[in-house]
Amino acid sequence: MQKTCVGIVGMGTVGTGVARLLLDYGDRTALHAGRTLWLERVVVRDVKKHRHVDLPAGLMTDDLNLILSDKKIEAVAVLIGGLEPARTIILQLLEAGKDIVTANKAVLAEHGGELFDRARELGRSIAFEATVAGGVPIVANISQNLSANQISSIHAILNGTSNFILTRMEETGVSFAQVLAEAQKRGYAEADPTMDIDGSDAAQKLAILAHLAFGVRVPWREISRRGIEALDSADIRYAAELGYRLKLLAVAELVPEGLELHVSPTLVKRGAPLAETRDAYNAISVVGDAVGTVFFHGLGAGQMPTASAVVADLIDTVVGRTRITFRTLALWSNRYAQVSPRDQDKVRGRFYLRFDVDDRPGVMAEITGVLGRHEVSIASVIQHAPETADTTVVPLVIMTHKTTEGATRRAVEEIDRLRCVRSASVRMRVLD
Ligand code: NAP
Ligand code: HSE
Repeated sequence: MQKTCVGIVGMGTVGTGVARLLLDYGDRTALHAGRTLWLERVVVRDVKKHRHVDLPAGLMTDDLNLILSDKKIEAVAVLIGGLEPARTIILQLLEAGKDIVTANKAVLAEHGGELFDRARELGRSIAFEATVAGGVPIVANISQNLSANQISSIHAILNGTSNFILTRMEETGVSFAQVLAEAQKRGYAEADPTMDIDGSDAAQKLAILAHLAFGVRVPWREISRRGIEALDSADIRYAAELGYRLKLLAVAELVPEGLELHVSPTLVKRGAPLAETRDAYNAISVVGDAVGTVFFHGLGAGQMPTASAVVADLIDTVVGRTRITFRTLALWSNRYAQVSPRDQDKVRGRFYLRFDVDDRPGVMAEITGVLGRHEVSIASVIQHAPETADTTVVPLVIMTHKTTEGATRRAVEEIDRLRCVRSASVRMRVLD
């Protein structure tokens, strides 16, 4: 059988999974590729480090030149995180005539234009299914299978680490720090998990999906984003009491005034498929004008789900499918306008508000008065008992009717200046 040589740069969580699939399940890849995908070389930073896969002797090196100069190697999976040296390594590999497969969304969200331009100039391709939602084939679905549609919205859970943390906090009541450590141990989190929990990772993935779905280049840093790092477990409980679950939701919506893009902790109605997406699972609900609503669900982080997407991309690359889509889609090309998301203050929705206030007469009137002046209309109010017996501060939870992000933000800023309010208030979006 014909043999095509491939390489891997980066042998961490994902690289190890890819090596396992290539080495242990070669018959499977051969069946779909019509040839053997031969793992010729693996480049790492530290060759002495123990790897959780049995690599044939002599395969591993810390010298990238051994891949760059090896004419036999046609495609390389770049599986290191962060911006540098990932960007430089991808450019060097392209210059050396290699096609690229990557799981690194940060480098695409930041340097996609430069990397894709160079790949096009050199007649090479970049495949990136694993950059969004791990094992869920959402890149191929949006860019190819749904291409007859005008997509109008995407509501998604795109960060496995955050979803794992929220699920465990809700189910077991353990602390944020404990669950984050567990997510790191399981290989879901980035080497530095800051971008997982502050919403940046989800914003980078949303920028990639928006590019595919709406044909616009959105600078990911312009996407309004809030993460789960400051979340209080009390809000998980109050949300449950109201019939909702807290999820870190990434939303893209095409409205007549422009494209709304945001990532934020959101109360999602229990029973809705997005609310029932648990652990490190990701989910993406896409609405297209021809197809209606399509829902994708699967493991969005972790070794083997992500490796599944990388190896499928390697197969597509060596058989030539990627090159065709790469050419026809012209991603990150100047053909697509660079747009900014619509002003977040104008984005409409319902909101969950929590105020920790003195338990005394008149407080409710003060707060509802401010909300009224900002034209934020109240749908329901729950006043909870004090969290501990030795305090007279009570949590006041208010659900609003539809209003704008700007109106609630301004109202909450004013309420936080009232003397009856004892700590910074909480404001989260609601998806019914
Ligand atoms: P990881 O476990 O931290 O592994 C990164 C690997 O890159 C390590 O093996 C490291 O080598 C290697 N590396 C770093 N700098 C290098 C250099 N200059 N030259 C050669 N190798 C270098 O990361 P990961 O979780 O596998 O993630 C890899 C990429 O996939 C990231 O972009 C991430 O965002 C993305 N991704 C991850 C997941 C997931 O569930 N983990 C899912 C989807 C996408 P040493 O081991 O020698 O230090
Ligand atoms: N750290 C990422 C996550 C990996 O938790 O979703 C998948 O991109």
